Amino acid sequence: MSAPYIVTISSEKGGVGKTTLATNLAIYLKALHEDLPVTLLSFDNHFSVDQMFRINRQPQRGDVTGLFTGSNPDDLIETGEYGVQYIPSSKQLHALRRELDDPTALARALAKSSLGGIIIIDTRPDLDIFTQSALYAADRVIVPVKDAPSMDNCRHIYEFFDEHGISRRPLRILPCLVDGRIHFDGPFSDPYQLLKAYAINRGYRCMEGFIAKSPKVESLNTNPEGKIYPVLSHGRQTEVHVQMTHIARQVYLNTLDTETRRLDEYRKDMAEAEIEHQGIYELRRNNLATNCLVCGNPLVGNESIGMAGYFAQTSNMKVSGFIEEECFTGLVFRYFYGAKRSIETHDPVWELFRESAQRSYFLLQRAPHTKNFYQQKLSFYRFDDSGLEVSHKTIELQEFEKRLLSKERSDLFPLLERTLFNEQGRLEGEFLLLRKVSSDLPEEILYDQNYANFSDIMNKVGTQLP
Ligand SMILES: Nc1ncnc2c1ncn2[C@@H]1O[C@H](COP(=O)(O)OP(=O)(O)O)[C@@H](O)[C@H]1O
Ligand SMILES: [Mg+2]
Repeated sequence: MSAPYIVTISSEKGGVGKTTLATNLAIYLKALHEDLPVTLLSFDNHFSVDQMFRINRQPQRGDVTGLFTGSNPDDLIETGEYGVQYIPSSKQLHALRRELDDPTALARALAKSSLGGIIIIDTRPDLDIFTQSALYAADRVIVPVKDAPSMDNCRHIYEFFDEHGISRRPLRILPCLVDGRIHFDGPFSDPYQLLKAYAINRGYRCMEGFIAKSPKVESLNTNPEGKIYPVLSHGRQTEVHVQMTHIARQVYLNTLDTETRRLDEYRKDMAEAEIEHQGIYELRRNNLATNCLVCGNPLVGNESIGMAGYFAQTSNMKVSGFIEEECFTGLVFRYFYGAKRSIETHDPVWELFRESAQRSYFLLQRAPHTKNFYQQKLSFYRFDDSGLEVSHKTIELQEFEKRLLSKERSDLFPLLERTLFNEQGRLEGEFLLLRKVSSDLPEEILYDQNYANFSDIMNKVGTQLP
């Protein structure tokens, strides 16, 4: 299914004829090519689109806010007058503004829909996030200008394209509301010629032709029925009718010329991002040690991960893996909380630790300033959820080394050997960071957001350590 061709009508100036152009362009395109699906939507809150296209009092399924809140655009489409589809406008759209900062959101939303043909987007006289997103998605941007100040304002639209690294190719100026009664002496005989010269002078490309100012067209908004009538049906005798026909034909020919649409590019980018995303997760998953880092029981299978209690990763990222809950808790009690007797798993102290561990990060690292080469010290830190130190304790590994003779009695030895010891069995500058994981789905810690949080804490505590 080929992507729709998106036409955005935009200018920072109000009253330059954007809405009149957007609504009539939809009707002229439909008249030009009956089978072409034409969809219209507006980020303005003037409801001209709704007034013009809404059939009787049909109930709405949604409105343009849905485009920014996760609805499928297909579910927002209404059948309108003159064979034009539309997405209803919204008064609430503006309330959303603060929550949005991604100008690609609209393109991504539209890329998920099955809409084809042409989509026309009418915007507010503002470069707000909605206009930005409409510019981002556009194959063609028509910027109506009616005078020198509105031409000056175009600069911001051009700058937006440059700042976001988007090609200026879609941009076209269209002189609108051109007053044919005005004549100048000199090389530019009328406002159209003058505006065109201004545009060319600034390096802006123009649509062919212009839209004249016509009292008849202006009057189409004002009638006892409170309706807005199309130029096509109610202004056929005006020159605007001929001009609109010409503009619609250009747009239609452009759709035929443009093989790769903006949304095609988005769909491709999104598909690639998906693959890359999958790839990164797989990489993290494949990098896991397969056994518990303390007791050595197999934990990581192809399909699922066993009874893992903690995720652990060295600061140089060389080792990452899981530890069974009992292994780590037992080890912490024995070596760092100085438990004389071994604590049973049903002891309330155990439960207390398990509960508070959910909000902690744990860290093991060589203690600084160990003068005697043979005397190694190991520090154990506990941080809160935001990476602030809660407590720490340092133990001598000297005594521990004596116990090396009976490795099987020590839980700390295999953990250090699998993580922090170098080949000579000595601690170096690296640390080991640990975090409790969900017992239902331990691999959740490898998902993008969780893993990013873990990495953030790793960086944060890394800079705090002595
Ligand atoms: N070709 C035209 N001739 C005369 N009046 C026009 C023409 N196009 C638009 N208008 C009028 O100018 C005003 C502003 O037009 P509108 O399309 O709402 O501009 P915008 O959307 O840029 O604010 C409206 O009153 C409209 O009826
Ligand atoms: Mg408008």
